[in-house]
Amino acid sequence: MTDLFDLTGKVAIVTGAARGIGQSIAIELARQGADVVVSDIIPEEGTIVQIKKLKRKAIYVKTDISKKKEVENLINETIKQFKKIDILVNNAGIYIAGNVSDFPEENWDKTMNINVKGPFLCSQAALKYMKKGASIINVSSVAGIEGSAGGAAYCASKGAIRLFTKALAAEVGALGIRVNSIHPGLIDTPMTTGLDKKMKDAMLSKFLLKRVGQPVDIAGPAVFLASDASAYMTGSEIVADGGWICAL
Ligand SMILES: NC(=O)c1ccc[n+]([C@@H]2O[C@H](COP(=O)([O-])OP(=O)(O)OC[C@H]3O[C@@H](n4cnc5c(N)ncnc54)[C@H](O)[C@@H]3O)[C@@H](O)[C@H]2O)c1
Repeated sequence: MTDLFDLTGKVAIVTGAARGIGQSIAIELARQGADVVVSDIIPEEGTIVQIKKLKRKAIYVKTDISKKKEVENLINETIKQFKKIDILVNNAGIYIAGNVSDFPEENWDKTMNINVKGPFLCSQAALKYMKKGASIINVSSVAGIEGSAGGAAYCASKGAIRLFTKALAAEVGALGIRVNSIHPGLIDTPMTTGLDKKMKDAMLSKFLLKRVGQPVDIAGPAVFLASDASAYMTGSEIVADGGWICAL
């Protein structure tokens, strides 16, 4: 029997892969055999070197996913280099905290442009080259399932991407292309290092596994959703939160 997790010969694009969860996803996809396009708005922080150590090919393409022209360039560069796209991980995202009462309109627009429009633009452009067996993975959040005070813009954007996943899955299912979402809980990345310690401790006390997640805890589900191990899953969501929202 073939290895269900084997990604040899596959080409993956991971957005926001310079650091954090995206970096770990890019490396773990490569470990299973994929060549990877590392995309981010900031310079990459060692992702390429680590992928090359695994004897896989990797290129970096600077991209602001909220800008259509830059997304088109990302896809064109991928095709120029690798000729096809098998896996797209819409991982790049931002979190801006704040209550609705005084939340600046520009922060709302920024959140929606990066967290919602970005995955839409990337999926639209990548789908032109995706064939039967391709997989799109959207990194949402537990904040796309449960609301929280001070997180309205982020929750709205992650809830949007959760249902974008299911709608797109319905659109492309007959083509044999799968679309699924991952919903991380609290993961130790640059996005969360600045969070208030008291708030983090209060969250941690509710996690069934009693630990904060690491980026690789999300890379595992991403490898699964990219591979044939999840061949019969589409429009689905995987919650990877150490047992947080199930016990709320
Ligand atoms: N860390 C957590 O606790 C957590 C929890 C749930 C969901 N998530 C989601 O996981 C994903 C990755 O988050 P992370 O924790 O690794 O954060 P991070 O800030 O470490 O990484 C996010 C990456 O996205 C990039 N990015 C931001 N704006 C971009 C843009 N316009 N175009 C391209 N790239 C852009 C950043 O430069 C960065 O490298 C995000 O979608 C985030 O919302 C994170």
